[in-house]
Amino acid sequence: MTDLNRRHGLNPPHSEVVNACQHIAPCDALDMGCSNGRNALYLGEQGFNVTAVDSNANAIGMLQSIVAQEGIGNVDAQVYDINQAALQADFGFISCTVTLMFLDPGRVETVIADMQAHTVPGGANLIVCAMDTTAHPCPIAFPFTLNEGQLGALYQGWEMLKYNEDLGTMHNGAQLQFATMLARKPA
Ligand SMILES: C[S@@+](CC[C@H](N)C(=O)[O-])C[C@H]1O[C@@H](n2cnc3c(N)ncnc32)[C@H](O)[C@@H]1O
Repeated sequence: MTDLNRRHGLNPPHSEVVNACQHIAPCDALDMGCSNGRNALYLGEQGFNVTAVDSNANAIGMLQSIVAQEGIGNVDAQVYDINQAALQADFGFISCTVTLMFLDPGRVETVIADMQAHTVPGGANLIVCAMDTTAHPCPIAFPFTLNEGQLGALYQGWEMLKYNEDLGTMHNGAQLQFATMLARKPA
């Protein structure tokens, strides 16, 4: 847990965001579905120049107030509906942890294509998303879940720095498969 996150009552950053920072040098980063900023603030602390977006105006307001209170100059929080798939800038790192599941299922592949198009050559995408498979049907009624191999297929041609579709156990004991991917776009 970082001091900054603790001071503002936020959870620690997602472990995969922390792991990604071992592979990705600080650059322009986009945190998609940032909520109140546990990952965006961490990326900012690591020296990334962060744009953080979420459709929840209250969450963005909270993050903006932390940024203002702390005098943070490299985290810019904006309200944005990811379903639009209309990114306006290019990034060296795009992070989308446990957010795709809440999108309009008919838009997810377009959203991913937009993320890929707005990643600079040699840049990276991090995605963590729940799955629904024959072996492990998703016990939660998310609007969207990934099928087996679906995420890897969408990133064909990218270098997989990390890819797994591992089974995890939730706090209530339910077993849930997650796709976890850190992929680098060809330079
Ligand atoms: C489970 S939280 C994950 C937050 C963060 N990525 C993390 O790792 O803690 C999912 C976030 O996605 C946001 N979200 C859901 N649908 C969205 C959409 N269409 N556009 C932007 N954000 C969305 C929610 O408001 C919520 O903050």
